[in-house]
Amino acid sequence: MRVGEFEINNIYNIDCLVGMKMMPDECVDLVVTSPPYDDLRVYNGYSFDFEGIAKELYRVMKKGGVVVWVVGDKIKNGNRSLTSFKQCLYFQEIGFNVHDIMIYRKKNTPFMRSNAYTNCYEFMFVFSKEKVATFNPLKTKTARSGFEKLVSNKKADGINNKVVAELKKEKTLTNIWSYAVGLGGSTNDKIAFQHPAIFPEKLAHDHILSWTNEGDLVFDPMSGSGTTCKMAKLAKRNYLGMEISKEYTDLSIKRLKMVHPQLF
Ligand SMILES: C[S@@+](CC[C@H](N)C(=O)[O-])C[C@H]1O[C@@H](n2cnc3c(N)ncnc32)[C@H](O)[C@@H]1O
Repeated sequence: MRVGEFEINNIYNIDCLVGMKMMPDECVDLVVTSPPYDDLRVYNGYSFDFEGIAKELYRVMKKGGVVVWVVGDKIKNGNRSLTSFKQCLYFQEIGFNVHDIMIYRKKNTPFMRSNAYTNCYEFMFVFSKEKVATFNPLKTKTARSGFEKLVSNKKADGINNKVVAELKKEKTLTNIWSYAVGLGGSTNDKIAFQHPAIFPEKLAHDHILSWTNEGDLVFDPMSGSGTTCKMAKLAKRNYLGMEISKEYTDLSIKRLKMVHPQLF
C-alpha cells in the first residue's frame, strides 16, 4: 500500500520536509516523534526547519489525528531555552488543538546540576487536528477493591450521604508516564544505542495504543533508531518513518528487520 510516493511499512532516508511534500493531505492517524532539541545532540548533519515541518504535519494529519511531540529544553547558564513552549505555541497558532501536555518522567536520571533539582522529565505535547478521533484510555489497577461506604453527592440539605458501592477495579492513567531509560529500560536492542537520543519503546507503544486502532497509519518524520516504527509494527498498525541521516536510517532498518523480516 502506498501513501503518495511512499510504500508504507518502510523507513526512508529523506528530509521529512521534502518527504511530507510527497504525501497527500489528511493521510496520517498518529505521529509519535521527537525532534532534535536545540543543539543538545550532534546528529549526523541535519537541517531542522521547525515551522515548515509543523505546517506540513498539520496538512498530512487526518481530521481527528494526533501528533505526540516529545521534547525537552536546553539549559544554558542557568536559563532554560523554552524551545518546548515556543514550539507548543506555534503548533496551536497554525491550527492544532493542544489536547494535552503530558510528562515523560525518566525513572533513572543521573544527577546533573549542582544548584537545581535534577531534571527528570520531558514534555509529551499531544496535539490534535480538530477533535481527537480515537482514545483508548490505558488503565491501571486501583489500590483498593471490593465494597466500601462511599460519599455520594451532597444534596440541597448539605448532608453527605454515604452509600455502599463497589470500588472500581481499574482507573484511567494520569498524564504523567514514567519509564526506565537506557539498555533494558528504553529497549533491549543494543543496536538502537548507536543513536544518541532514543525514547523508550514503551512510551511509543502506550501512545500508539491510546490514539490509534489496528491498521491505522503511524508516522515518525524524524524516526532516528526506528522506535516508533518498531512499536507500530508490533501493535499491528501500519508505519512510515523518515530520517535525514543515512547512518540512522540504516540502523533503524536493521532494527526493524528483527520484527518485520519482510522489510528490505
Ligand atoms: C531525537 S532524535 C529521534 C529519536 C527517535 N525517537 C528514537 O527513539 O530513536 C531526532 C532525529 O531527527 C533526525 N532529523 C533531524 N532533522 C530531520 C529532518 N529534517 N528530517 C528527518 N529527520 C531529521 C535526526 O537525525 C535524529 O535522528
